[in-house]
Amino acid sequence: MRCYFIQSAQPVAGNMSENKRKILVTSALPYANGPIHIGHLVEYLQTDIWVRFQKQRGHDCLYVCADDTHGTPIMLKAQQEGVTPEELIAKVGKEHLADFTEFNIEFDRYHSTHSEENRHFAELIYRRQRDEGHIESKSITQAYDPVKEMFLPDRFIKGECPKCGAADQYGDNCEACGATYAPTDLKNAVSAISGEKPVDRDSVHYFFKLSDYSEMLKSWIHAGHLQPEVANKLDEWLTGGLQEWDISRDAPYFGFEIPDAPGKFFYVWLDAPIGYIASFKNLCDEKGLDFDEYWGADSKTELYHFIGKDIIYFHGLFWPAMLEGAGFRTPSAIFAHGFLTVNGEKMSKSRGTFIKARTYLGHLNPEYLRYYFAAKLNGSVEDIDLNFEDFAQRVNSDLVGKVVNIGSRCSGFIKKRFDSTLAAECAEPELFQEFIAANESIAALYENRDYGKAMREIMALADRANQYIDEKQPWVVAKQEGSDAELQAICSVGLNLFRLLVTYLKPVLPKLAEASEQFLNIESQPWPAVATPLCNHKINKFKPLMTRVELDKIEKMVDESKESLKTAEEKPKKPNNPSIEPIAETIEFDDFAKIDLRIAKIIDAQHVDGADKLLQITVDIGDESRNVFAGIKAAYSPEDLIGKLTVVVANLKPRQMRFGLSEGMVLAAGPGGKALWILEPHSGAQPGMRVK
Ligand code: 2FM
Ligand code: ZN
Repeated sequence: MRCYFIQSAQPVAGNMSENKRKILVTSALPYANGPIHIGHLVEYLQTDIWVRFQKQRGHDCLYVCADDTHGTPIMLKAQQEGVTPEELIAKVGKEHLADFTEFNIEFDRYHSTHSEENRHFAELIYRRQRDEGHIESKSITQAYDPVKEMFLPDRFIKGECPKCGAADQYGDNCEACGATYAPTDLKNAVSAISGEKPVDRDSVHYFFKLSDYSEMLKSWIHAGHLQPEVANKLDEWLTGGLQEWDISRDAPYFGFEIPDAPGKFFYVWLDAPIGYIASFKNLCDEKGLDFDEYWGADSKTELYHFIGKDIIYFHGLFWPAMLEGAGFRTPSAIFAHGFLTVNGEKMSKSRGTFIKARTYLGHLNPEYLRYYFAAKLNGSVEDIDLNFEDFAQRVNSDLVGKVVNIGSRCSGFIKKRFDSTLAAECAEPELFQEFIAANESIAALYENRDYGKAMREIMALADRANQYIDEKQPWVVAKQEGSDAELQAICSVGLNLFRLLVTYLKPVLPKLAEASEQFLNIESQPWPAVATPLCNHKINKFKPLMTRVELDKIEKMVDESKESLKTAEEKPKKPNNPSIEPIAETIEFDDFAKIDLRIAKIIDAQHVDGADKLLQITVDIGDESRNVFAGIKAAYSPEDLIGKLTVVVANLKPRQMRFGLSEGMVLAAGPGGKALWILEPHSGAQPGMRVK
């Protein structure tokens, strides 16, 4: 084999430019009501690795995503936090992107479904479907919260399980016994928002007639766009008959109002996938790309959606039908993955295995997780498990022990003995060629998302490289006189093999690859389909490229994941001013919403015989009067109270006291004793008015 003197050390990526593919890739859009956690990361890392691989191969590959910002949970969360939904989604969107960026997940565009582009395409797709007769409207009956004045999504109704009687079960399945049911089957159902019993109420809804697309979907799901197990599942649904899909929600709702239906909004799942188009459009406008080349009905561009197995129905049925009917292209393929378990179990907040991306970043190198997930992933929808011991062992043994070790073993001699310069010839052209020849099978594994096998193949090469070094024993050669050329040759071969290994790992470990390129003094490496060894080439100083995973850091991360729940949800806060009582334990919004506060007029007040602190007060709360015992005797004389308006807790369970039944509670402020002031609302308030 010939050896080249390489200035830029830039291998040629075969004849890739002739077969340059145009590819658009998406990951599912994360909801803007919570942080990114390691469960989410399976998908974004899986996608990012695939996109980086395509880019490294020289293809024209774009990766777009966005925050999924609409819907009732986001609206309620904003209310709970006392901010507007727009403020909430702006804050969460920034946090999501920061987390992704630190995990080296590199989008070409990260946008938002609450954007003008998305409104435009949601309306356009809706109008086109409507004009072709695929939308119908009809009145339906749903649970309505009379206090909160809103319709209740299933997950906001709770009650007793109809099967086992377990209390506080949400929506449509029981966490205690696993039974599934309709929310209307729940016993003693209440709104999870107000605690009020829901009432039935009618409202007009808009439906997408999915069954109009039965024939199209029947052939689409068997046309090679889906994994076999996904196609089978969709087939079952198709055979069971396609239901029309309710795409509207009533106000109040955070989303886009339906153009011809005031007070009605697109259901979040209608505009979420359209967010893929919107995000791309935003990129397109900035970069001057041809939109139709990607989304036009005749597009030849490849389009891939990476998703979790829980949202197959939306992507495998609704989405192709929506696109087809509105004159857009359909996806080339949908790649579904499984869920993440941790140490063999569902992620759990109490065990500390529900780990936020941010918490992970505070303790561990993101490339560890990138590698570990890659080592576990394949192209199926199987779940993957993150086992912490296996995680540490695999990263330490493969990356630190096998790959990085080659660099450190060989670089010292090159630096000290050969002025940091590699040998003028490659002493093992066949071995080098063996490494190059592996590129095709490794590429095929990446292409098929069979990253686990790709990692095994790369590690087998790393074993081969280490075996070569072990056999040649450069540390022994270094001590022998007159064997400089041999020492330089061995270490140069080692470093050339190291270079190929990190280049194969580059989609998974972009930072390690970058640092290695810097160390080897080479440009950003494309896929090594054809590569020549680095000869007579000067390298830079070797810096440790990756340190070992330390088990105590994992422990700390798990502890913090337990701890952060306590901080956020349980721990009372200590006031700075010691004269102020500490804020009590945090309660859920649901708990607060259960308290029914009413304006009350004090119509009578009396001393209570034998009571030191109590006054007996009669309050008018609109259409009834109540008897309340209040501990405000030191602060008020009964006669001062009569005629005053105040606020009472009207739904407090009546309490039998020594002096009689107390049917509510008067609210007052102050430390107690004389320093106590009953709340006196503005005189415009009327008895019975609800205080919100
Ligand atoms: O399941 C989810 O988390 C959704 N936010 C995914 C939306 S993917 C796409 F359709 F936008
Ligand atoms: Zn049950």
